[in-house]
Amino acid sequence: MSIAELDQTARSILIENDQGGYTVPTKGLYPYQWNWDSVFVALGFATFDQDRAWREIEMLFEGQWHDGMVPHILFRKDDPSYFPGPSVWGTSGGQIPSSGHSQPPVAATVIRDLVEADTSGKSEDRAAALFPNLMAWHRWFLAYRDPEGEGLLAVIHPWESGRDNLPDWDDALRAVEVKDIGPYERKDTSHVDPAMRPHKEDYDRYLSIMAACRKVGWDPAEVARTCPFFVADPGVTFIFLRACRDLLVLAERLGKDTDADEIRGWITRLERGAKILWQDNLQAHVALDRRSGKHTNGISSASFLALYAGLADQQTLTALCGHFDRISDKVRYLMPSYDPDHESYEPLRYWRGPVWAMINYMIARGFAEIGDGVRADKLRRDTASLIETNGFAEYFSPETGAGAGGGTFSWTAAIWLTWASPTRVKQAA
Ligand code: GLC
Repeated sequence: MSIAELDQTARSILIENDQGGYTVPTKGLYPYQWNWDSVFVALGFATFDQDRAWREIEMLFEGQWHDGMVPHILFRKDDPSYFPGPSVWGTSGGQIPSSGHSQPPVAATVIRDLVEADTSGKSEDRAAALFPNLMAWHRWFLAYRDPEGEGLLAVIHPWESGRDNLPDWDDALRAVEVKDIGPYERKDTSHVDPAMRPHKEDYDRYLSIMAACRKVGWDPAEVARTCPFFVADPGVTFIFLRACRDLLVLAERLGKDTDADEIRGWITRLERGAKILWQDNLQAHVALDRRSGKHTNGISSASFLALYAGLADQQTLTALCGHFDRISDKVRYLMPSYDPDHESYEPLRYWRGPVWAMINYMIARGFAEIGDGVRADKLRRDTASLIETNGFAEYFSPETGAGAGGGTFSWTAAIWLTWASPTRVKQAA
């Protein structure tokens, strides 16, 4: 396929997956609105329909809970082909049936991008309308995922990290007692090869965590206190820190001085907290189980997001460049979701090795912003060639490039349009 044809296919995927204002990640496997998927999708839409881009994010925020949380899935209509659906979650926090936890908060960053890319001036009003929702969501994260005020965010479920099946969750998940789940039938393994999906023992525990949160009525303070899974995640923490910096720029632009002061306090708190995730023996920021007090022993693609979060001190920078080059020598395509030198690495099992386009995009942005165009461009070229050769898959093998998981995937199409496509590079030049 030529580049022009790929651009056209990417646009068609977004249009095909559009459900009337919001977009499903892919038909079949993921038939609802997912939080961070939608926000990346907005970037893709913005390359050809700015109004539609805003609509995507506005519809996501229609599902915001009264306590400020923006859920990871909105179940606008019941679809029996997906499990676990709304009745298993048993939530009642907002206007739209939803899951009970959140996902990485990329929205403030993308909203800033949309505002800055728009020359018509119309975007600023839409950003202003969403600004209080963003503030409420960010406050919620700090109150209930960092209850001691240390400056690092925990996830209460592997799915809240957006990197669902990462080896970092293994030990904490194993410590979750399997209870209150009853018989159930998974649907994911009927859409995708079971060898690429989580094991049954993991699924039992995913559901046990949900049962424990249901028991406390999804009350966020109670969830933070009692949830059997509570793991500080460099992925969510760095994405959030980045989002706070972008939210600050929006606050200043919109003249929200008091909010801007509040956000500055968050940034200081998070810059301090990130240090707790640093492990000298690994030379990286890694996950920390808040219940057992143990750090994980592996490096994931999220460790590289330190730069995207604006943490580019000399120690971090030298360490990450070293890891980057070591991993580059080891695999054909960057960035594997888990360190290929680690024993838990599996190139095709979901989040234990495969490459995701939107993670590459964020890592590359971090490198580009510190002036490392070479590493940023390597990430872009790898992403482009994965898509050119293997299509708009959910994820790819870092070794062979084979596409896996769901096909005609919305965020892969969006990242192509907004960053990976050579057309985009030409426009930016
Ligand atoms: C998987 C991914 C998650 C994503 C969802 C929809 O659950 O791990 O990050 O949001 O699929 O694409």
